[in-house]
Amino acid sequence: MNVIQGSQRRIFSGIKPTGEPHLGNYIGAIRRWVDLQHEYESFYCLVDLHAMTLPWDPEQLSEETLNMGAMLIACGIDPDRSVLFRQSQVGQHAELAWILTCIARMGELRRMVQFKEKSKGDTESVRAGLFTYPVLQAADVLLYLAHVVPVGEDQRQHVELMRDLGGRFNKSFGRTFVIPEPLISSDGARIMALDDPTQKMSKSETRPNASISLAEAPESIAKKVRSAVTDSGREVTAGEDKPALTNLLTIFSAVEGTPVSELEATYRSGGYAEFKQALADALVQHLRPIKKRYEDLVGDRAELERLLDAGARRACEVAESTMVDVRSRVGLGHRP
Ligand code: AMP
Ligand code: TRP
Repeated sequence: MNVIQGSQRRIFSGIKPTGEPHLGNYIGAIRRWVDLQHEYESFYCLVDLHAMTLPWDPEQLSEETLNMGAMLIACGIDPDRSVLFRQSQVGQHAELAWILTCIARMGELRRMVQFKEKSKGDTESVRAGLFTYPVLQAADVLLYLAHVVPVGEDQRQHVELMRDLGGRFNKSFGRTFVIPEPLISSDGARIMALDDPTQKMSKSETRPNASISLAEAPESIAKKVRSAVTDSGREVTAGEDKPALTNLLTIFSAVEGTPVSELEATYRSGGYAEFKQALADALVQHLRPIKKRYEDLVGDRAELERLLDAGARRACEVAESTMVDVRSRVGLGHRP
């Protein structure tokens, strides 16, 4: 029987190491992970196997995985406190994913919104990995018997699926998995593109002024903030009829740690130019140490590999102890 040691609750989350991480990733995910590592026993995974669901370049995949590891550490994930690791280095993820694939139903996977969006209706030539992607994600979390999964709103349905699969397994084979809860924060959950507040800031967006990367040069940050679209009117206030300013205020509030209402009080009547200058300054100041740490780390590939290898060894201990239990329950028995 697999019993969680100690009283600390466990969290698991993952990030795809594709493209450059941006402010949306930071405010919606990474920044929260940094805070959560003080409250929970934390597992943070660079999900390189998930990055293979769309066509990939092998060299780029391994390069971007290390870069993302460096960025998470630069943002404050402490590899001594949290278990930070590469998914592909812990073979149990793929093994459990297969077993869960054998209890998942076609219909429930077909209902996944992300699959529908990414396959764009092309259900014949689309890769099968894109279809089974949420099963691998379920395996990621269930392997660690995690209680809580911090994710963005877009991942709620995938967490629902892992709860269903974990529950179905427990019912068929005996209680093995913890059924995890999603942890979705409403504040900063959706940072919008700077040039179009109706679209999410996204790694796959190539419009030059849509997003700000976490390693962006200060001049470029200032330029993008200056060119960010605003709403009609002159006052700096948030509101449903002011999607662009609401987005800028949310970003400002996240990096300054100041409530939106206070920022409104300070900048309301000063005009857009003054507000944008203050926001650019705040962003540059907040991102400067992150960029510096990132650049130091990313140049030292050997040290990064060492840190991630150590994380994978810690992850593997937990993952294997779950798999010993799972294998015996499903009739696969022990490994030689
Ligand atoms: P992705 O960029 O899709 O790999 O997402 C990595 C993490 O960042 C997930 O937890 C997302 O929910 C979060 N995320 C991505 N884009 C945004 C955004 N524009 N605003 C807030 N969170 C985001
Ligand atoms: N699918 C998630 C995303 O696109 C990434 C992910 C993979 C994940 N495995 C996970 C998130 C496990 C939380 C838990 O953002």
